[in-house]
Amino acid sequence: MATLAKWQTNLNDRASFGLLRKLPIDKQMIDFASNDYLGLARNAVFQQSLLELAMNDPALMTGSTGSRLITGNSLLQERVEAFLAERYAVEAALLFPSGYTANLSLLSALPQRGDTLIVDELIHRSVHDGCLMNQANKWKFRHQDLNHLEELLKRAKDQSWVVVESVYSMDGDIARLKELAELAMAYDAHLIVDEAHAVGVFGDGLVQEYGLQSQVFATVVTYGKAMGLHGAAILGSETLKSYLINYASPFIYSTAMPDLMALSIQAVYEFLDRNTHLRQKLQDRIACFESEMFDKYSKSLLTPIQPVIIADLNKLKNLSKEIKEHGFHVYAVLPPTVPEGTGRFRISIHQYNTQEEIKQLVQLIKSNIE
Ligand SMILES: Cc1ncc(COP(=O)(O)O)c(C=O)c1O
Repeated sequence: MATLAKWQTNLNDRASFGLLRKLPIDKQMIDFASNDYLGLARNAVFQQSLLELAMNDPALMTGSTGSRLITGNSLLQERVEAFLAERYAVEAALLFPSGYTANLSLLSALPQRGDTLIVDELIHRSVHDGCLMNQANKWKFRHQDLNHLEELLKRAKDQSWVVVESVYSMDGDIARLKELAELAMAYDAHLIVDEAHAVGVFGDGLVQEYGLQSQVFATVVTYGKAMGLHGAAILGSETLKSYLINYASPFIYSTAMPDLMALSIQAVYEFLDRNTHLRQKLQDRIACFESEMFDKYSKSLLTPIQPVIIADLNKLKNLSKEIKEHGFHVYAVLPPTVPEGTGRFRISIHQYNTQEEIKQLVQLIKSNIE
């Protein structure tokens, strides 16, 4: 009981600072919060196409019954992995039930004792959690500061690993992937790129768009955001795939995804190929937001993640309440999820947000912070 009482005190403290996390259901609101940038998770035509897959073979819908290494593997998953490998022009792809487990797998299995892992200071939590499972030394470089990264690479011991996101999840800025790849090559470091917020928005992801596949050791693509589904894949060499299958415990000790999910992953690429206008419309909406908002509170990023920093947490919380009352769902991100002093609205732009909604939201924010 003493433990529960102590936890309750911690929770009460959190609540008194307005930082208590709760599980919301805000589906009826105007969505400026979800990661469904292309609207695929709510696209009735796409949903119908998935339904037809399931109707043709209902057994696809139920569980895979085990780890991929025991009974959870299927020809279908292997075919989807072959499809991904070909599409991305890499040797191999390996599916995961989520981006979180994909990152845990990479970071727990690859860096060895004595290696040096250098991550962007704003890298996603899943990478940090994966690092807790390895014996390498972890260093952080200042966000997007390649000079700092190079300084660290010069001091690194044994094998170096560099981990970045191609579009940063809380700041929405795009990594300088070509320079990162050159730097990694110059110092014999292995580069890992998390494409969670780029895939679907920028073609099949920025590594592919820039033709960097051969210079990136492992790329993580996820399907729970712009792709409107769930799951992830790691792209890289055959040896990398085989190593993960043998040594990555989050892969080994977890039930494989259901076949319907794997098949849906292939289907979403094909759906997007037939519906490129969704991507164009998203860019149009991003441009609309940036032209309305672009000022001292925000800078042009050209991505669907638009942070508006409001360091004064009381101001941020009051405005958040007001925005909600107007029917908009906007996510206020507070420390410790973001660094102290950088509390913000993380505004997600979607192709289905109307120009009118965007203008109203910007007006609401501007009139309250000016
Ligand atoms: C950059 C980044 N990587 C990985 C993940 C985890 O992906 P998933 O939600 O598929 O577990 C997220 C999700 O928040 C993310 O933003």
